[in-house]
Amino acid sequence: MKASENPYNPGAGAPPPELAGRDGLLRQADTAIERARRGKPSKSFLMLGLRGVGKTVLLNELEQSAERNGCQTAMFETDPDRPLAAQIAPQLHRILLRLDRIKKAGADMHNAFGALRSFASVFKVQLGDFEFGLAGPAATGDLTLDLTDLLVAIGEAAKKRETAVIILVDEIQYVQKGDLSALIMALHKISQRQLPVLLFGAGLPQLAKLAGDAKSYAERLFDYPPIGPLDAESARLALTAPAKREFVAYAPEALDYVVEQTGGYPFFLQVWGSHCWDAAAKSPITLADAKRASAAAVTALDEGIFKVRLARLTERQRAYARVMAEFGGAPVNSSDIANAMGLSLSQAAPIRDELIKKGMAYSPERGLIGFTVPKFDEFMRRAVPAPKPPRKQVKK
Ligand SMILES: Nc1ncnc2c1ncn2[C@@H]1O[C@H](COP(=O)(O)OP(=O)(O)OP(=O)(O)O)[C@@H](O)[C@H]1O
Ligand SMILES: [Mg+2]
Repeated sequence: MKASENPYNPGAGAPPPELAGRDGLLRQADTAIERARRGKPSKSFLMLGLRGVGKTVLLNELEQSAERNGCQTAMFETDPDRPLAAQIAPQLHRILLRLDRIKKAGADMHNAFGALRSFASVFKVQLGDFEFGLAGPAATGDLTLDLTDLLVAIGEAAKKRETAVIILVDEIQYVQKGDLSALIMALHKISQRQLPVLLFGAGLPQLAKLAGDAKSYAERLFDYPPIGPLDAESARLALTAPAKREFVAYAPEALDYVVEQTGGYPFFLQVWGSHCWDAAAKSPITLADAKRASAAAVTALDEGIFKVRLARLTERQRAYARVMAEFGGAPVNSSDIANAMGLSLSQAAPIRDELIKKGMAYSPERGLIGFTVPKFDEFMRRAVPAPKPPRKQVKK
């Protein structure tokens, strides 16, 4: 079939032709946004899930929805190498400029610009010229206090203008630890004062284990809708709806086969759908087409994202990951991996931590480790020779 008419859209953050299986979540988020805008108590969201489940797509969707609802949004993808203050200040500046366009009497805008100005000066962030902003709380250099003051000032200005501020943060697991707890504490204050500021974050699942004091606040402050693979019905819809618009159908057994091969993972559904389109000569797409498409999809993934990820690993990280893959796709006990490598737990722990830091692996709970990319375990078993059993330590 014509490549120019291929409706599927595999790619990071690429809007899918059919956003399947997320209606409940979108409705929940819309309610949260609407409540915040009306000045009612409302909860922030942290959307946690593996690579390619559609987190960025959801954040984009929520951003648009918030804008349609008359809210002020700011979205950014976390840069692991920069402090949060430097990343969030320009976004908050943009929001303030937009709030300023909604004219209201009072000193609140002065106050908010003042808070931002002193925040920027203490954390050495360049923001361009400010028209005003001499009033407002003075920043102290303590991110928790200063971010709280700043968000409170912005929240008050938003409340007065009957709007809400929605901050959207992608790859939130890369926010540096101290910065993350500062952000959570600031949001905690905001929610106590019932100000219309919400955070929608997306990231890898290890985020749920937040450190220190921030943790107990975070549990109450946020909803954690798990973002996982689509159920079979939604996965079918993700494949069939875009094809149907081009007057193309799937044979039922082809559809079942693709759903099974992709495990319902959104990114894989786009990749497989796209290859099915290319493999089929005409509608309907048959099981034979789907099987050829599947082989092509696996090769494309191996050559593309999987090999790139493998190349980013050092020798010992690769060895660790290969042993992990021996245990299959689900998270595994890191002590089992250490054992299988003939290492002590403390010898293996730094390698595990490196893999987590690189975003290759995550720890869903203490002691467990899994790959952040679905199917990476299968790739490792295909691409890297099986590990040799560790040499037994000879007791003297
Ligand atoms: N609900 C959905 N239905 C169908 N396809 C989807 C859905 N959500 C996302 N996709 C597709 O999945 C792919 C990955 O989406 P996205 O980049 O948002 O994932 P992600 O979770 O942000 O991944 P990463 O962790 O790598 O950033 C895109 O090609 C997108 O079009
Ligand atoms: Mg993403």
